[in-house]
Amino acid sequence: MNSLYNKDLLDLTELNKEEFLDILHTAIDMKNNREKYSEVLKGKTLIMIFEKSSTRTRISFESGMYRLGGNAIVLDSKNTQMGRGEPILDTANVMSRYADAIMIRTFSDEMVKELATHASIPVVNGLTDGHHPCQILADFQTMLEVKGSLEDLKIAYIGDGNNMAHSYILGSAILGINVSIATPTAYQPQEEIVKKAMKLAEKSGATIEITTDPFVACKDADFIFTDVWASMGSEHEQNEREKAFQTIYQVNDELVKVAKSDYHFMHCLPAHREEEVTSSIIDGEHSLIYQEAENRMHAQNALLYKLLIA
Ligand code: CP
Ligand code: NVA
Repeated sequence: MNSLYNKDLLDLTELNKEEFLDILHTAIDMKNNREKYSEVLKGKTLIMIFEKSSTRTRISFESGMYRLGGNAIVLDSKNTQMGRGEPILDTANVMSRYADAIMIRTFSDEMVKELATHASIPVVNGLTDGHHPCQILADFQTMLEVKGSLEDLKIAYIGDGNNMAHSYILGSAILGINVSIATPTAYQPQEEIVKKAMKLAEKSGATIEITTDPFVACKDADFIFTDVWASMGSEHEQNEREKAFQTIYQVNDELVKVAKSDYHFMHCLPAHREEEVTSSIIDGEHSLIYQEAENRMHAQNALLYKLLIA
């Protein structure tokens, strides 16, 4: 039995290095051998709950399930009894009787934990305020495709110390990738997550750097990442965030000069061109954004395959 069978993925700390790499290699195999996997989730149903907007997550999970012979049900929580206050306890128990896995995109990590505690089927975090593990699986799969290995790499993340920053820090710490995060002082990643990552890095050998200087972060980087300045749920802070981030925390032609000459740019999307990244970079020759978006589906398929098939 594979060690991920019937587990949850609430954040990346639930994966050890071997499991993480196994998902990435399986994702690449699934991408290259579609027929081989076309019925592996036959008869399986994934329930997807959305309390925040989505394009990629919704489509990649739904298409992905069909690609593996399974089925997906998409729920907008407002139109379910959850939206009218039905307890998570009952929701989790009932869904576990109908389906084989739950994917949820919501605000609170605590709520997802509660859902997972009461569900007898795997629960996958499709983005919370704190984490976006599925995105990192896709991003690291893309890095593996491009480089052939994840050894001796440095990644830089520029912008808000948000769910993406947290997930890059944790993912890198598990896999032994050197990571440097540059954010304004008031928007640094949560200390508790950095501490957890430092502990994981002791084992993997990763270095973790938290700075306020994007030029320090991008120095000799193999991959540069950024994300929106105001995430879902923080849109009302857009103006004050623009003041804090403007120009300094933007991936542009000047900044990338300090990275390796064959650096790659990645962004989870959606992106705001000319805010966190200039068009010259996101639409330029070093950008991998569409390969990265495609890999959401393959990485998640590999994850679901591991969680659902013993
Ligand atoms: N990157 C990502 O999660 O995209 P969506 O918000 O469109 O799902
Ligand atoms: N940090 C962004 C990621 C979107 C995929 C958000 O949470 O809105």
